[in-house]
Amino acid sequence: MNAEEILSKMTLEEKAAFCSGRDFWHTKAVERLGVPSVMMCDGPHGLRKQNQEGDHLGVNDSIETVCYPTAAALASSFDRDVLQRLGEALGQECQAEEIAMLLGPGLNIKRSPLCGRNFEYFSEDPKLAGELGAAYVKALQGKGVAACCKHFACNNQETRRMSGSSEVDERTLREIYLPAFEAVVKKGGTQSIMCAYNAVNGTYCAENRMLLTDILRNEWGFDGFVVTDWGAVKDPAKGVAAGVDLEMPGGVHADGREIVAAVRDGTLSEEDLDRAVLRLLRFVLGAVERREPGAQIDRDACRALSRRLAEECAVLLKNDGLLPLRERQRVAFIGEFSERPRYQGAGSSHINVPHAVGALEAAGEGVVYARGFDTHSDRDDGALLQEAVEAAKNAEAAVIFAGLPDAYETEGADRAHMRLPENQNALIAAVAAVNPNTAVVLHGGAPMELPWLDAVSAVLCLYLAGEQAGAAAVDLLCGRAEPCGHLPETWPLRLEDNPSYLNFPGEDGIVTYAEGVFVGYRYYDKKRLAVRFPFGHGLSYTSFAYSNLRVDKERLTDREKLTVSVDVTNTGARPGKACVQLYVRDVESSVRRPVRELRDFARLWLQPGGTGTVRFTLDKRAFAYYEPKVHDFFVESGEFALELGESSRDLRVQKSVYVEGTAALPLHLTETSPILDLLRHPMGPMIVQQFMENAGTGALGDAENLGEGSDRMLENMIRELPLGALVSFDYVSREELDALLTLLRS
Ligand code: BGC
Repeated sequence: MNAEEILSKMTLEEKAAFCSGRDFWHTKAVERLGVPSVMMCDGPHGLRKQNQEGDHLGVNDSIETVCYPTAAALASSFDRDVLQRLGEALGQECQAEEIAMLLGPGLNIKRSPLCGRNFEYFSEDPKLAGELGAAYVKALQGKGVAACCKHFACNNQETRRMSGSSEVDERTLREIYLPAFEAVVKKGGTQSIMCAYNAVNGTYCAENRMLLTDILRNEWGFDGFVVTDWGAVKDPAKGVAAGVDLEMPGGVHADGREIVAAVRDGTLSEEDLDRAVLRLLRFVLGAVERREPGAQIDRDACRALSRRLAEECAVLLKNDGLLPLRERQRVAFIGEFSERPRYQGAGSSHINVPHAVGALEAAGEGVVYARGFDTHSDRDDGALLQEAVEAAKNAEAAVIFAGLPDAYETEGADRAHMRLPENQNALIAAVAAVNPNTAVVLHGGAPMELPWLDAVSAVLCLYLAGEQAGAAAVDLLCGRAEPCGHLPETWPLRLEDNPSYLNFPGEDGIVTYAEGVFVGYRYYDKKRLAVRFPFGHGLSYTSFAYSNLRVDKERLTDREKLTVSVDVTNTGARPGKACVQLYVRDVESSVRRPVRELRDFARLWLQPGGTGTVRFTLDKRAFAYYEPKVHDFFVESGEFALELGESSRDLRVQKSVYVEGTAALPLHLTETSPILDLLRHPMGPMIVQQFMENAGTGALGDAENLGEGSDRMLENMIRELPLGALVSFDYVSREELDALLTLLRS
């Protein structure tokens, strides 16, 4: 039987009950109609497959398996290929474990460095998050396993995560918080979306028809199913009416009686319920069809992949030439994280790993070790510090493995500040004072303040790099692997510089996204603020030169595509990966826009002396902003600069093109519209010219009596004058103005 036939045979009660899970991780079976139950499990950087007594907070053990780099690290690759390799590996593992759907990836935008779940999210930039998310989804689903992109939408903090409301204006929603989800739907073809706990503008996401039906399905064409975040449902019938298909976990509204009652009393239409059941049936039947019985997983190969990916993601933030370390250099490894790296965050994404590799173990014999600090305490421990200083004094180079301890970053709680524990800051300063060759390796899912930065020679950021973190770190430090990651978020100098600072985490469960579209570098660049490390920053052991930027046309309309190409040459002595970032800047705009926005990116592996070409194709969205007046993306005609380089503040080449917008904004001229608005009408300039001629003798008086520059002043005053004032100042009669407005509106 196909899904439609099964649906036609289901009773109202069966359909209602089918819309919630059987338990924590399974859908319900409908045995009499041959519909099996299928299993899902958490990810996204490994499998958290739990037994029946599952708990979604990661307290109970799940199967022992491989932990890959977390999203924060993965995004630093700026590389779709990295996400594809991971998606394929996870898909294979899901097949071997009979998992029909993996709960990930997380696509929420990093609005504040303090969000406790930032390690599970990709970026402050929607293009980067969306492209990487789509690559992961495609690869996972290519293996016959559904992705479940989460948490839709505006779930950008952990404070009041299950009850708060994110207050966001329409333009900001469309330009910043929705595009990554749009990309996984349109480009990635995701089979499922998880709606978030929180409300958006006062309506819970699990009851938000605008998000789940109007935008997701009607506008973006999503044909999969919506699952709620675990425990997000308040009213199951309202959920189904808004576009929810599956409530998780099961148990709370197990028999579906609320839905049955709502259909009976007419508050929920049976068609809406049928639609939800049909989508769910299609998923379940499809999952059964795509199952690969007997699929195997080679966990050693997975571990090797985890290590490669960690190497591809690490970001070399600073290097005065200390790295790569020389062979047979006497090196001291300092800090508890070199023994036990911090490689993943706490909460529902927590993977049960039999053994995580520390740098000390990976380096083998010949490295001196000092513990340096206790990861469970923030307080200085004089004895540990002294021992570390002694070790550093006797070494040719000191590498400190530092970062955020487990307790600092977890699902369910936001960070209180952006600092490292004080004992780590003290240790790094003390070691750097006795050894000029000091490098710091950072572990953590989000930006940190680095007060000692000037005193150390090198900083390598691993983010949370998965179970092979230590092995990857050693490969990179020694130059067996080339660092090539770039920051997917700005690292501000201080937390107070962050645009969300005054409105994070909100008050009484209301958080106003007052910074609007100016999130991350969009804000720092607009304010020309100094930052610790800009968005897109990342060094390597070689260097790159950009040349020969070319476009296939210099003028185009917003209906045409633009091809942009650039040559990149490896000008150093080692191989390496360039990270080509393409930003677009609207040179002049009548609305507030960020200085520049990332519109595409690519990585390129180059041997010393080698040159390669990167080609990008831009469409309308690369030049558009979202215009609430037309509820659509809109291009204002004019010049746009294409800027390419290795970070948002390291732009190497640029070129301008002229883009003509083919849509016009409607003019809603009323009595309160300023004359400025009238000027936007094709007949406007002519009409205004007439007014200007009258102005000299009108109620505003004679321009000559108004002093120096009075012509311009008068012109400005007139441009700001509401049309209604023309009647008050006797330029036109009321009847004439009414006639003019009617004419202009027609
Ligand atoms: C988290 C989700 C997770 C789910 C199941 C929720 O608390 O927000 O990300 O997939 O639990 O564990």
